[in-house]
Amino acid sequence: MKNIVILISGGGSNMAAIVRTAERQNWAKRLNTRVSAVISNKADAEGLGLAKQHGIATAVIDHKAFASEPHPREAFGAALMTEIDHHQPHLVVLAGFMRILTPGFVAHYEGRLINIHPSLLPAFTGLNTHARAIEAGCKFAGATVHRVTAELDHGEILAQAVVPVLPDDTADTLAARVLTQEHLMYPKAVEELLAK
Ligand code: GAR
Repeated sequence: MKNIVILISGGGSNMAAIVRTAERQNWAKRLNTRVSAVISNKADAEGLGLAKQHGIATAVIDHKAFASEPHPREAFGAALMTEIDHHQPHLVVLAGFMRILTPGFVAHYEGRLINIHPSLLPAFTGLNTHARAIEAGCKFAGATVHRVTAELDHGEILAQAVVPVLPDDTADTLAARVLTQEHLMYPKAVEELLAK
């Protein structure tokens, strides 16, 4: 069985799209795969409840708990790795996981760590992507599924979805239009990787 571990920080709608698609398309039987855990760095992440409803194991590794460590980011990453590795993942899926990962973490999961980013990479790495796309006068925006490397929001592009930027768009309306496409693209990209 190929285990998928999904990391979230908030709403978890991309995680939910993957879980629902896996159920609907019977990935367990068809692809010999399952979502075996959803892990959040925030205890109040809404997505955790939904994962539990689907019978998926959940865990919280709060990054703030490591603030007094000499190397907080490394300590958080090490604790996260321990939790993830309990599930012997074939694929680790970042779905709205809003922490920057250390090079050691990225190297540990090389070839099995992917992310979704709400822009057409390589444009607009980092935060506030939708406001920045509108500000730049872009006519199109979108989202990218990519392999994770030590450099933030870089790595091989696996899939992209494009949406128009409309004249009256705010960051919120554009984000909603992009998110709808993310929910279609991310499960498909995960499925394609698992089918390889
Ligand atoms: C999504 O739009 C995702 O692309 C973005 O956060 C949102 C999470 O929504 N990710 C990033 O910005 C990563 N840097 P969700 O929690 O409802 O899936």
